[in-house]
Amino acid sequence: MNSEITTLEQLRVECLNCQKCGLAATRTNVVFGVGNPNARVLFIGEGPGENEDLQGEPFVGRGGQLLDKMLDAVDLSRKENIYIANIVKCRPPHNRDPQPEEQEHCINWLRAQTKLIAPKIIVCLGRISAQKLIKQNFRVTAEHGMWFEKGGIQFMGTFHPAALLRNPNNKPAAMSDFIALRDKINELCPETYTGSGLV
Ligand code: URA
Repeated sequence: MNSEITTLEQLRVECLNCQKCGLAATRTNVVFGVGNPNARVLFIGEGPGENEDLQGEPFVGRGGQLLDKMLDAVDLSRKENIYIANIVKCRPPHNRDPQPEEQEHCINWLRAQTKLIAPKIIVCLGRISAQKLIKQNFRVTAEHGMWFEKGGIQFMGTFHPAALLRNPNNKPAAMSDFIALRDKINELCPETYTGSGLV
């Protein structure tokens, strides 16, 4: 990666040309990420699906609509006060799990994004993201909503929106994770809600 990169926009331009793994051959668009580059809260999903691949933006399908509703319930918005990205930036064919080598190739983009955004809180959406970023044996059903400190950042894993569409019984548990997130934001980075320092 070019060491002269100092902004998220420069990083995005570089990422759009990535050919580090086989997913480059089948993608329509690189899905770099969306949101406020000064956000204190970063959401990380797994990888783009079909709609995201076509539109170049994370979480724009049915799962994304559910995510936006849950965000709205705790006064968060991808247009204003958070940033959303994925572990892998290109769609795995037929929406299979991203392979460990693909995740390894791609994680440097996410590391660089995280360095530039410098979030206080990272929310992992689903197993793949939580196992990559929190711990290898993370179990969403048992450990969702718990806080893990790593390198000065607070991490929480919660249900993937697509999993909530398949199993709506978990929606109340997911919503209580978002309420715990709101409390953590008020404790660590209330500017998320007041807007000061995020522009
Ligand atoms: N699922 C993800 O994990 N990320 C997206 O961007 C879309 C669906």
